[in-house]
Amino acid sequence: MSLKLQNKHHKPYGKIEVICGSMFSGKTEMVISIIKKAKIRREKVKIFKPKLDNRYDSLKIVSHNKNEIPATPVENIIEIVQLSKQANIIAIDEAQFFNDQIVEVCIEIASSGCNVILAGLDLDHLGNPFGAMPRLMSIADKITKLHAICDLCSSEASHTFKKTNDKKQIEIGEKDKYQALCRSCFNLKMSSNE
Ligand code: TMP
Ligand code: MG
Ligand code: ZN
Repeated sequence: MSLKLQNKHHKPYGKIEVICGSMFSGKTEMVISIIKKAKIRREKVKIFKPKLDNRYDSLKIVSHNKNEIPATPVENIIEIVQLSKQANIIAIDEAQFFNDQIVEVCIEIASSGCNVILAGLDLDHLGNPFGAMPRLMSIADKITKLHAICDLCSSEASHTFKKTNDKKQIEIGEKDKYQALCRSCFNLKMSSNE
C-alpha cells in the first residue's frame, strides 16, 4: 500500500521523536511519563506496541519499574494510520520490531499534524543496528539516547548482552535472558563467547 504524503489538514506538521538505548535504560518509562503529562493537558493520545511483545500484559506497555499505561497491540504497522486519525500525539513502543514501512507510516502521521514518539532498541544483542531504528533516527526531529547501568562495572551501558546461546535477533525476554553492559564489558564478553 502506498501512502500519500500530503498535509491535507493544513495544520503544522507534527514532530517525530525517537527514544533509543539498551534494555533497562528507561525508554518505556520515558514514553509513559511523556504520555501521562500529555493526558493531563487533555491531548488526544494513542499508544501502540507490536503484538509479538506479550511481556507483562498484551493491552499495556509496562516499564521494568512496573509503571504502565494502556496500549493497542498491532501486528502490521500500517494499521496505526487509521487508528491514529483522532490523535494529536501517538507513541510506538518496541519500534525495532516493526518492518521498514514504519518510516513512511510515521512521516504520513506527522504530516497530518500529529506528534509521533518512538521508543526502541538501537542495537540488538550482537551490537548491530536493530530493524528500522537507524532510519527512524535519521528522519527524527529529536533523538534521546538513554543509558542503563552496566551490570558488571556500573558505568553507562549502551549495549545489551544476551546471556543464552540463541543467536536469533528477535527473542522476547527480560533479565533472565539479557543484561545491559558498557561497550568495554560487552566486547570482553562477546570475545570470550566466540
Ligand atoms: P526493552 O528495550 O523494553 O527492555 O525490551 C526489549 C525487548 O526486545 C525484550 O523483549 C527483549 C527483546 N530483544 C530482542 O528480541 N533481541 C535483542 O537482540 C535484544 C537486545 C532484545
Ligand atoms: Mg521497554
Ligand atoms: Zn562495564
